[in-house]
Amino acid sequence: MAKHSIFLQILLFVHCTFFIVFPGPGAGRQDHRAALFVFGDSLFDVGNNNYINTSTTFQANFWPYGQTFFKYPTGRYSDGRLIPDFIAEHAKRPLLLPYKHPGYNQHAGGANFASSGASALAETFQGLAINLHTQLNYFKEVERQLGGDIEAKKALLSRAIFVLSIGAADYASPFWTNKTGFIRRFSGEEYVGMVIGNLTLVIKEIHKAGGRKFGFLGVSPMGCWPMLRAVNPTNTGDDGCHEDVNALVRLHNVALSQLLRSLEGELQGFKYSLFDFYTWGLERINNPSKYGFKEGKEACCGAGPYRGFDSCGEKRGVEYQLCSNPSEYLFFDLAHPSDAAFKQLSELMWSGPPSIVWPYNLKALFELSLEDHGSDEL
Ligand SMILES: *[C@@H]1O[C@H](CO)[C@@H](O)[C@H](O)[C@H]1NC(C)=O
Ligand SMILES: *[C@@H]1O[C@H](CO)[C@@H](O)[C@H](O)[C@H]1NC(C)=O
Ligand SMILES: *[C@@H]1O[C@H](CO)[C@@H](O)[C@H](O)[C@H]1NC(C)=O
Repeated sequence: MAKHSIFLQILLFVHCTFFIVFPGPGAGRQDHRAALFVFGDSLFDVGNNNYINTSTTFQANFWPYGQTFFKYPTGRYSDGRLIPDFIAEHAKRPLLLPYKHPGYNQHAGGANFASSGASALAETFQGLAINLHTQLNYFKEVERQLGGDIEAKKALLSRAIFVLSIGAADYASPFWTNKTGFIRRFSGEEYVGMVIGNLTLVIKEIHKAGGRKFGFLGVSPMGCWPMLRAVNPTNTGDDGCHEDVNALVRLHNVALSQLLRSLEGELQGFKYSLFDFYTWGLERINNPSKYGFKEGKEACCGAGPYRGFDSCGEKRGVEYQLCSNPSEYLFFDLAHPSDAAFKQLSELMWSGPPSIVWPYNLKALFELSLEDHGSDEL
């Protein structure tokens, strides 16, 4: 088994390296496909946390993570692919390696900086994850390293798609860890204001560097995710969801939507896509069979109520259960959808209707990027 996984790991690495490092047929000509830059948390982390000093809570580089698609644990929090993998597939781009992968520094096709547990606020999971501001610093480093003149660099970045998933850790962690001292100092509006304020700073910095096209994942109804159901002391929601968390998330999603609308008027050329993860999640939790799932509340892998304890994988040192078919489950572990669920979500992010993703879907953003290229050629 071990030999088998190492072989696959090398195969995948060679496969990705080939596409990323070597331009392939037509070498010398410019790559006209939009670059993809990824910022965010565990929903987008394809293995950056494998290379940082943190705890197993923030890592997924052990069995049974990765069992369905890659057949070895890559560090992704799922049995298979994550949203950035599906976006890359839809956009006919190679999968991105984690930015922190040793020896990997070719970023003309983009980069993935996401880190499990990443937050907008410095206080959240301090020292355990690569927070959003540090991810921005990594991006600036990549920008400096991109070859070519300033105009070429600006053109690459203005065509590029920047996708972000942030906020879940800021809202869920105080309640999950039962360390609510900091968050209780603020009203919900004030706390959300700080998260949105810090996210705004990062968006503006990316825009200043030349970024124009952004794809945002709203925050999910995390209060109904197995991890928060399992620690919910009061069972406040009539459905067992952690209502303190969901109330903050709803405030966040409204504020994010308002922010993006106002940035459209404020930042030159700013175009965005916003996916309503909250509605998507609740709809599937409440009607799993409508979407092809047998189970919408309990995780495939884990222990405790809803398998919501931090226990998936032997490395976490707790006995746990594992389902036989992850694709029947909405959740693979306490806080992360299965490959099958991520696939559905990504299809909607890519080409879904304006009721779930607006004002553009990702496909439309990538198409805008191609049009930009057309005008550059004239
Ligand atoms: C990782 O963190 C632990 C605990 O904070 C510390 O003792 C150890 O020296 C760190 N290791 C590295 C390589 O930084
Ligand atoms: C959380 O903290 C509060 C206040 O310190 C305490 O009363 C409560 O028992 C804690 N809950 C858990 C699940 O540890
Ligand atoms: C960013 O977050 C910090 C807390 O980490 C907060 O003090 C600060 O006001 C926030 N910045 C903005 C612009 O909201």
